[in-house]
Amino acid sequence: MSKIKTIAILCSGGDSPGMNCAIRAIVRTAVHEGLEVFGIQKGYQGLLEGNVRPLSASSVGNILQHGGTILQTSRCPEFHEVETRKEAAHILKRKKIDALVVIGGDGSFNGAYKLQSEHGIPVIGIPGTIDNDISGTDYTIGFDTAVKNAVDAVDKIRDTANSHARTFIVEVMGKRSPAIALNVGICTGAENVVLPAEKIDFNKIASDIDRGIKRGKTSSIIIAAEGEIEGVGHVIQKELKEKFNISAHVCILGHIQRGGNPNPMDRVLASQMGHLAVKALIADNKCHATVVRLGKVTLAPLQECLTKKTEFSLDEVDLVNTLSI
Ligand code: F6P
Repeated sequence: MSKIKTIAILCSGGDSPGMNCAIRAIVRTAVHEGLEVFGIQKGYQGLLEGNVRPLSASSVGNILQHGGTILQTSRCPEFHEVETRKEAAHILKRKKIDALVVIGGDGSFNGAYKLQSEHGIPVIGIPGTIDNDISGTDYTIGFDTAVKNAVDAVDKIRDTANSHARTFIVEVMGKRSPAIALNVGICTGAENVVLPAEKIDFNKIASDIDRGIKRGKTSSIIIAAEGEIEGVGHVIQKELKEKFNISAHVCILGHIQRGGNPNPMDRVLASQMGHLAVKALIADNKCHATVVRLGKVTLAPLQECLTKKTEFSLDEVDLVNTLSI
């Protein structure tokens, strides 16, 4: 017999398309297994405010096709403090919540890990972020949809760029993560991709544009990950004009990438992960994450998933460069 009778769910950090599918899967699996489920509104911040409500099988009806999260989310820097986590643990115990499922990124996982190690509350992390930057899992919920959103936008930009023989710099999300930029670059035949934490090679960008024009291309698209440089698109635009006399337009895709209906891949992944999270708690797992490795959804110790994945494959960079000659 499982010791877990009541679980709570929260979303934390940036929302990602597919979070609702995960919430639905958790609630429906829990109800199916005879557990009570609560939703915590607005992430760790909401937990601290006691913003908790019961969820039933019907309260998660008609949500799986929608982006965002019905539980809402927040970034909660106070959760880095020991005292704040102590207060959160008290609230969970007072409300007789036995275990917590956290859907979010590496920061959210760190909060969950500490709640478990400091206060013994069983936790399961479900990777939900468009950045696909959580160690230990091949994919995070929302990444595929975000890439699709960005690719749709860049395809449209390509139409007008071709019509006017223009160069565009398109800024995509992923502050410290190269994943969206690289995948969008591959999908849209970008002439160059600028990744975060990389020294920008302006000479290469200019020569890639120049080479394309010389062989008859009617447009150039540079995909730039927003990175740590504020306004990276405009930085590149300025440099191209001043040093190489190349005029370029800048388009910042921004939060449009995070919204919208989740793709089938994200819906399936989120449903499988939500289901597994509940099964894992019933089976007495106390500090794990649901991950997907080589196409299989499974459990990993949460500790393996606490760091941000920032590395990228040089093969993918090579692919962008080779295919856009
Ligand atoms: O959730 C991840 C992410 O979308 C990053 O790609 C981006 O840098 C950041 O969140 C933006 O955060 P916010 O919506 O809080 O401005």
